[in-house]
Amino acid sequence: MDAHSDFAEAVQKGLQSSPKHLPSRFFYDAKGDALFVRIMHLPEYYLSRSEMDVFVHQSKAIVAEFGKGEAFDVVELGAGDGTKTRHLLEAALAHSKDWSYVPIDISAHALQDLKDRLREELPHLKVHTMASEYQEALNAMKTLPRPRKRLFLFLGSNLGNMGWQASLDFLSSIRKLMQKGDGLLLGLDLVKDPNTIKAAYSDAAGVTRAFNLNLLHRINRELGGDFDVNAFDHVAYYEPVAQEARSFLVSTKDQEVHIESLGLRVSFTAWEALQTEISRKYSPSDLKYMQEHLGLDKRACYYDCRHWFVDVLWTL
Ligand code: AVI
Repeated sequence: MDAHSDFAEAVQKGLQSSPKHLPSRFFYDAKGDALFVRIMHLPEYYLSRSEMDVFVHQSKAIVAEFGKGEAFDVVELGAGDGTKTRHLLEAALAHSKDWSYVPIDISAHALQDLKDRLREELPHLKVHTMASEYQEALNAMKTLPRPRKRLFLFLGSNLGNMGWQASLDFLSSIRKLMQKGDGLLLGLDLVKDPNTIKAAYSDAAGVTRAFNLNLLHRINRELGGDFDVNAFDHVAYYEPVAQEARSFLVSTKDQEVHIESLGLRVSFTAWEALQTEISRKYSPSDLKYMQEHLGLDKRACYYDCRHWFVDVLWTL
């Protein structure tokens, strides 16, 4: 039990705040990763399928528009299992073999799996993995040689989990690394019928519920907590003015929780909410604002067939 880890610090701070909150990046331990893979296959969770539709049908168009016949390196932040990206990589390999794919992810294990799979599926592809936090990787990239222009990928509407200001700061740190000719391909979930969005975060099979509750199990496992997980419920709704899906764990009774490694006792009153995640949805004016804020040129927008999701291509 490490009382000084990033996780421990966030739990200590978040449970003593008012209202209580925990950052959603801590969903992703081994159990959470496996639950997220199940979420991506749920009938209600349209995000992954929608973006997959973009990559299956429009990868060639993306490569043609950005590459204009020139080879380019592909840098992916938060590469995950890389299933969507594979279509883009294949399309780029059809033009040239003389470039590299640089997947960046916090999980060294996930990156090794991705590398092994790509070696089999795309043996001509040059892969240079970077296992670190995004910011660290972006800093490290400043000193790397850049023989070609770069296309940065940030997919899956991962941006939506950051909060508006944090997301602008994050995009600005990518922008600082960009040089003339570089591009950013950003995957964003769009505003739509609030009922469709709500269902995506409260599926009938209860997988998202388990994903959210895993945070409490993780505190019990890693920090010696004694959360009675059955006395908390998963609640998610969509707030259409803020354009945010919001997820909570709600205490179903008055209770006290003890977290041994933090020496912390926390009280919950009945129906008190612990905020665990926001997933922002984007409007056309948000896209315009972000693009202008970054000082990038709009090159193209690639939508899925229902126009529920977009991958925007902005260049410097
Ligand atoms: C990873 N991220 C974009 C997902 C989302 O839609 O916000 C995480 C997620 N949370 C609940 N379901 C999926």
